[in-house]
Amino acid sequence: MKSTINFPAYAMLMDMPHFWSKTKKRSPIMAAALFDNRTSDSIKNSEKEYRRLQKGKSERILVKNAKKLHGMVSVSPAKNAMLPILAAVILSKKPVHLINIPDLRDMHALISILEDMGVKVSKKGRTTTFDASNLKTNIANSDLVSSMRASNLILGPLLGRLGAGRVALPGGCPIGGRPMDIHLKGFEQLGATITHGCDFIQGISTGLSGADIKLSFPSVGATENIMMAAVLAKGKTTISNAALEPEIDDLANFLNKMGAKISGVGTTCLTIQGVSELHEVTYQAIGDRIEAATYIIAALMTNSKVRVENINPQHIQPVIKILKDMNASIRVEKNMVEVRKSKLKAAKVVTLPHPGFPTDVQAQLMALMTQAEGKSEITETIFENRFMHVEHLKRMGANININGKTATIVGPTPLEGRPVTCTDLRASAAMVLSALVAKGVTEIRDVFHMDRGYDHLERKMGLLGASISRIS
Ligand code: UD1
Repeated sequence: MKSTINFPAYAMLMDMPHFWSKTKKRSPIMAAALFDNRTSDSIKNSEKEYRRLQKGKSERILVKNAKKLHGMVSVSPAKNAMLPILAAVILSKKPVHLINIPDLRDMHALISILEDMGVKVSKKGRTTTFDASNLKTNIANSDLVSSMRASNLILGPLLGRLGAGRVALPGGCPIGGRPMDIHLKGFEQLGATITHGCDFIQGISTGLSGADIKLSFPSVGATENIMMAAVLAKGKTTISNAALEPEIDDLANFLNKMGAKISGVGTTCLTIQGVSELHEVTYQAIGDRIEAATYIIAALMTNSKVRVENINPQHIQPVIKILKDMNASIRVEKNMVEVRKSKLKAAKVVTLPHPGFPTDVQAQLMALMTQAEGKSEITETIFENRFMHVEHLKRMGANININGKTATIVGPTPLEGRPVTCTDLRASAAMVLSALVAKGVTEIRDVFHMDRGYDHLERKMGLLGASISRIS
């Protein structure tokens, strides 16, 4: 078995029971810690994140109608690129230096999970250094794992580095069933034996070997997870029908910079020639295309001129195309998109894997369509439960009807400030965007969803001239 720790990976796959106390004074995390066998660091990390989450649950955002936005906004490194990159630090015994990790709840949670597993984390200026040379467990089972879907990305690196691993069943946005069957089938083809408990998934092998893997659907997470598992596997792996999202290329570029041998980057067929070890690396992830699209839509909603910087326009081409179909005036330069005042008309959109229109911009586009002339349609094909924001948009006055996977939006409709709730991460952005044009003040609850994926949204919107504040 390929293991860098001095007892078999098998032996480390042990159960850690969780007991939830009804004791009022303690958080469930601290109460559970009275009974289980986690380390004090792990408990402290979970406790810190638990407190952060509770704070987010009680916080609300107030947004006043914005007459106009103006100026420049710089997007942060992409959440969806940073998450697999953070998981991939497990693969290397050498230091990994990541520049500008965005200040997001998902980042804090994943970093805490890594620390629980023995990864040493230190920060100097804008650079965070990860040292995974001495992993103390191959079990990712802190309370934080089940709170975020992307923690499933730890299983691939654990299998790659140690041959075995276990993760608690992941959670995340409540946007529908999010199975891991494609990930797991890939791991099995690489030689792992997968078993499930009621609250965990584990893989065990005597070391992975390359295989030809064809994904039944170009799943973003499965492509990333299998790619990470294969980097240190013996021999050659191919992944066909791989996802094409820019974040996949970024992960592959990061791994290659560490010494991995991945070719076919940017195509649907990736070839990974296994290597025996990876070396030290310094890396900065690509700009966040979903954050960029959100600010572009904010400018269009408010009929404003705004520059969105630190984004590769190629990455948001599918969004720009639809917005141009809607009559948006958009100018593109290297690493910059400028939006000007535009009179928008309706459009029909179907969400699809990249290079189709991204599901992660569906809710924001719907908010925009409430302000466009005519009858628009959005068909959501990626997630089964991603129209939860519709009820809240309707509460603000939007004219939207859902029929199966398709929402019909008739605009323009004047919106009114009302108390609304963030139902998932991207829905939270749709609420903020709608609030910018709604009459009066909109109170947005459950902003912890927003804090998962928008780096300093209030500050950035504020710099553009929006009146947005957070209250407890
Ligand atoms: C990633 C993104 C998320 C984005 C989504 C689609 C990250 C951290 N998150 O999520 O923001 O909305 O891509 O662009 O990058 N599926 C299966 N079996 C599997 C895997 C997926 O049936 O094993 C299904 C899912 O239930 C979903 C669809 O495939 O309906 C797309 O999922 P996937 O591409 O895997 O998305 P994520 O990686 O979860």
